[in-house]
Amino acid sequence: MNRLVVVAAGVAALLLSGTAALAGGDAAKGKVVFQNCAICHTIGKGQPNGVGPNLHGLFDREAGKAPGFSYSSGLATAKFKWDDENLDKWLAEPSKFIAGTKMSFNIPDAQDRANVIAYLHQAAQ
Ligand code: HEC
Repeated sequence: MNRLVVVAAGVAALLLSGTAALAGGDAAKGKVVFQNCAICHTIGKGQPNGVGPNLHGLFDREAGKAPGFSYSSGLATAKFKWDDENLDKWLAEPSKFIAGTKMSFNIPDAQDRANVIAYLHQAAQ
Protein backbone atom coordinates (compact mmCIF):
# COMPACT_ATOMS: atom_id res chain seq x y z
CA MET A 1 0.00 0.00 0.00
CA ASN A 2 2.71 2.46 0.99
CA ARG A 3 4.60 1.60 -2.12
CA LEU A 4 1.59 2.36 -4.31
CA VAL A 5 1.23 5.78 -2.76
CA VAL A 6 4.89 6.54 -3.46
CA VAL A 7 4.53 5.46 -7.10
CA ALA A 8 1.40 7.60 -7.54
CA ALA A 9 3.19 10.62 -6.10
CA GLY A 10 6.07 10.07 -8.50
CA VAL A 11 3.71 10.04 -11.49
CA ALA A 12 2.04 13.25 -10.30
CA ALA A 13 5.42 14.94 -9.95
CA LEU A 14 6.33 13.90 -13.50
CA LEU A 15 3.08 15.29 -14.87
CA LEU A 16 3.58 18.57 -13.03
CA SER A 17 7.09 19.03 -14.34
CA GLY A 18 5.92 18.40 -17.91
CA THR A 19 5.71 22.11 -18.67
CA ALA A 20 9.29 22.83 -17.62
CA ALA A 21 11.72 22.58 -20.50
CA LEU A 22 14.79 22.57 -18.28
CA ALA A 23 15.33 19.13 -16.86
CA GLY A 24 14.37 18.84 -13.23
CA GLY A 25 12.45 22.10 -12.82
CA ASP A 26 10.24 21.69 -9.75
CA ALA A 27 7.40 24.23 -9.60
CA ALA A 28 6.70 23.62 -5.90
CA LYS A 29 10.30 24.43 -5.03
CA GLY A 30 10.18 27.30 -7.51
CA LYS A 31 7.29 28.81 -5.60
CA VAL A 32 9.59 29.15 -2.61
CA VAL A 33 12.31 30.72 -4.77
CA PHE A 34 9.69 33.15 -6.13
CA GLN A 35 9.25 34.62 -2.65
CA ASN A 36 12.45 36.55 -3.44
CA CYS A 37 10.98 37.83 -6.69
CA ALA A 38 7.70 38.77 -4.98
CA ILE A 39 9.50 41.58 -3.15
CA CYS A 40 9.45 43.38 -6.51
CA HIS A 41 7.00 41.44 -8.73
CA THR A 42 3.32 40.49 -8.65
CA ILE A 43 2.29 37.63 -10.92
CA GLY A 44 -1.52 37.44 -10.71
CA LYS A 45 -3.76 38.81 -13.46
CA GLY A 46 -4.48 42.52 -13.05
CA GLN A 47 -2.17 42.96 -10.06
CA PRO A 48 -0.23 46.22 -9.96
CA ASN A 49 3.39 46.70 -11.01
CA GLY A 50 5.82 47.03 -8.14
CA VAL A 51 9.51 47.86 -8.23
CA GLY A 52 9.42 45.39 -11.15
CA PRO A 53 6.64 44.79 -13.70
CA ASN A 54 3.67 42.46 -13.12
CA LEU A 55 4.65 39.07 -14.62
CA HIS A 56 1.19 37.81 -15.59
CA GLY A 57 1.12 36.41 -19.13
CA LEU A 58 4.92 36.60 -19.30
CA PHE A 59 5.28 33.83 -21.90
CA ASP A 60 2.65 35.32 -24.23
CA ARG A 61 4.01 38.83 -24.54
CA GLU A 62 7.16 40.45 -25.81
CA ALA A 63 9.78 41.42 -23.26
CA GLY A 64 9.44 44.89 -21.81
CA LYS A 65 5.70 45.26 -22.50
CA ALA A 66 3.84 45.06 -19.17
CA PRO A 67 1.24 47.86 -19.35
CA GLY A 68 2.11 50.96 -17.36
CA PHE A 69 5.62 49.92 -16.31
CA SER A 70 8.56 52.21 -16.95
CA TYR A 71 11.32 49.91 -18.24
CA SER A 72 15.00 50.62 -18.82
CA SER A 73 15.59 51.48 -22.47
CA GLY A 74 17.26 48.08 -22.96
CA LEU A 75 14.12 46.15 -22.06
CA ALA A 76 11.70 48.71 -23.48
CA THR A 77 13.23 48.28 -26.94
CA ALA A 78 13.85 44.52 -26.69
CA LYS A 79 12.40 42.43 -29.52
CA PHE A 80 12.00 38.92 -28.17
CA LYS A 81 9.51 36.80 -26.26
CA TRP A 82 10.37 35.21 -22.95
CA ASP A 83 11.04 31.47 -23.00
CA ASP A 84 12.89 29.05 -20.73
CA GLU A 85 16.23 29.60 -22.39
CA ASN A 86 16.35 33.39 -22.27
CA LEU A 87 14.79 33.46 -18.78
CA ASP A 88 17.58 31.20 -17.57
CA LYS A 89 20.21 33.61 -18.92
CA TRP A 90 18.32 36.64 -17.60
CA LEU A 91 17.96 35.26 -14.09
CA ALA A 92 21.59 34.12 -13.98
CA GLU A 93 22.84 37.67 -14.64
CA PRO A 94 20.31 40.30 -15.78
CA SER A 95 22.87 43.02 -16.53
CA LYS A 96 24.81 40.68 -18.79
CA PHE A 97 21.65 39.77 -20.71
CA ILE A 98 20.25 43.34 -21.02
CA ALA A 99 22.84 46.09 -20.60
CA GLY A 100 21.65 48.85 -18.31
CA THR A 101 18.72 46.88 -16.87
CA LYS A 102 17.08 48.11 -13.69
CA MET A 103 16.72 44.58 -12.28
CA SER A 104 19.37 44.14 -9.61
CA PHE A 105 18.68 40.58 -8.51
CA ASN A 106 20.01 37.28 -9.80
CA ILE A 107 19.89 33.56 -9.04
CA PRO A 108 23.34 31.99 -9.21
CA ASP A 109 22.12 28.40 -8.78
CA ALA A 110 20.99 26.69 -12.02
CA GLN A 111 18.60 24.34 -10.24
CA ASP A 112 16.91 27.25 -8.44
CA ARG A 113 16.51 28.95 -11.81
CA ALA A 114 14.97 25.84 -13.37
CA ASN A 115 12.59 25.56 -10.42
CA VAL A 116 11.45 29.17 -10.51
CA ILE A 117 10.96 29.00 -14.30
CA ALA A 118 8.75 25.91 -13.80
CA TYR A 119 6.76 27.90 -11.24
CA LEU A 120 6.45 30.87 -13.62
CA HIS A 121 4.86 28.57 -16.22
CA GLN A 122 2.13 27.69 -13.74
CA ALA A 123 1.62 31.00 -12.03
CA ALA A 124 1.97 33.47 -14.91
CA GLN A 125 -0.94 32.15 -16.97
C1 HEC B 1 14.89 44.18 -6.39
C2 HEC B 1 13.72 44.07 -7.24
C3 HEC B 1 13.59 42.84 -8.14
C4 HEC B 1 13.68 41.52 -7.77
C5 HEC B 1 13.97 40.92 -6.40
C6 HEC B 1 13.40 40.75 -8.98
N1 HEC B 1 13.16 41.60 -10.03
FE1 HEC B 1 12.61 41.05 -11.91
N2 HEC B 1 12.60 43.00 -12.47
C7 HEC B 1 12.85 44.07 -11.65
C8 HEC B 1 12.86 45.30 -12.43
C9 HEC B 1 13.11 46.71 -11.90
C10 HEC B 1 12.59 44.91 -13.75
C11 HEC B 1 12.55 45.81 -14.98
C12 HEC B 1 13.98 45.83 -15.52
C13 HEC B 1 14.24 46.85 -16.61
O1 HEC B 1 13.36 47.64 -16.98
O2 HEC B 1 15.39 46.83 -17.12
C14 HEC B 1 12.42 43.45 -13.74
C15 HEC B 1 12.11 42.69 -14.87
C16 HEC B 1 11.87 41.33 -14.86
C17 HEC B 1 11.46 40.55 -15.99
C18 HEC B 1 11.17 41.08 -17.39
C19 HEC B 1 9.66 41.31 -17.47
C20 HEC B 1 9.16 41.86 -18.77
O3 HEC B 1 8.05 42.39 -18.77
O4 HEC B 1 9.85 41.76 -19.80
C21 HEC B 1 11.34 39.27 -15.58
C22 HEC B 1 10.92 38.08 -16.41
C23 HEC B 1 11.69 39.24 -14.18
N3 HEC B 1 12.02 40.52 -13.77
C24 HEC B 1 11.68 38.10 -13.41
C25 HEC B 1 12.11 38.06 -12.09
C26 HEC B 1 12.17 36.85 -11.32
C27 HEC B 1 11.71 35.48 -11.79
C28 HEC B 1 12.68 37.20 -10.11
C29 HEC B 1 13.04 36.29 -8.95
C30 HEC B 1 13.94 35.23 -9.24
C31 HEC B 1 12.91 38.63 -10.11
N4 HEC B 1 12.56 39.11 -11.34
C32 HEC B 1 13.39 39.38 -9.04
C33 HEC B 1 13.08 44.02 -10.29
C34 HEC B 1 13.26 42.87 -9.56
